[in-house]
Amino acid sequence: MEVFAGPLPEFMPERAPDDPVRLFLSWLSDAVADGLREPHAMTLSTVDEVGDPDARVLILKGVDERGWRFSGHAFSPKGHQLAVHPRAALTFYWPEHGRQVRLRGPVTPGSDQDNAEDFLARTDTARAEALLGRQSQYLADPAERDHALEKSLALIGEAPSLVDSAWTLYTLAPTVVEFWQATPSRVHTRLRYERTAYGWGRFRLWS
Ligand SMILES: Cc1cc2nc3c(=O)[nH]c(=O)nc-3n(C[C@H](O)[C@H](O)[C@H](O)COP(=O)(O)O)c2cc1C
Repeated sequence: MEVFAGPLPEFMPERAPDDPVRLFLSWLSDAVADGLREPHAMTLSTVDEVGDPDARVLILKGVDERGWRFSGHAFSPKGHQLAVHPRAALTFYWPEHGRQVRLRGPVTPGSDQDNAEDFLARTDTARAEALLGRQSQYLADPAERDHALEKSLALIGEAPSLVDSAWTLYTLAPTVVEFWQATPSRVHTRLRYERTAYGWGRFRLWS
């Protein structure tokens, strides 16, 4: 199968901004502007209590100088893993642009207010499902889930501002952010930002 068929955007590391947030936002804007599907989907990688890796796709909720944000249930496997090892990696891939961004660093939960705002911005069904607090548990009977969901939706109908206290808006504050740009020649371009006491260092990497 053909990969990196192009046309691919140009990336000149020597012109990259001092700060990876700005470069990330410009790559994300390029993905949005070109109509790439689900450009804000990313893989969150964590480790469990015995050090085994785990990974799943989540939606990016926001980015600024404090970090990259995502949300989920504290009682889910990823929530437990982040409670035990509050460090993670995020990976974005925009195939049509031949671009990958990977970052890693410590993860912190949001304030009660941030968590509540994120929760209340979700759809009724998504809130009702979260309130069940059973994500990733074995589902023996889908009818049991449908019944529980119905009851949870009715509860939300009666109390629309109800917030699940385990819903969490996490922030990953990266120590390393790497930008990878494919080129049709296959001599791909890589630029890694590393956080130092004095700001961000920038390093070209061999491909
Ligand atoms: C495109 C996409 C977006 C998703 N967004 C989220 C999300 O924002 N939060 C979330 O908890 N799960 C999201 N999921 C589901 C997760 O991939 C995962 O199945 C779920 O969070 C359970 O993961 P865990 O068992 O590792 O906790 C998304 C899945 C896909 C495919």
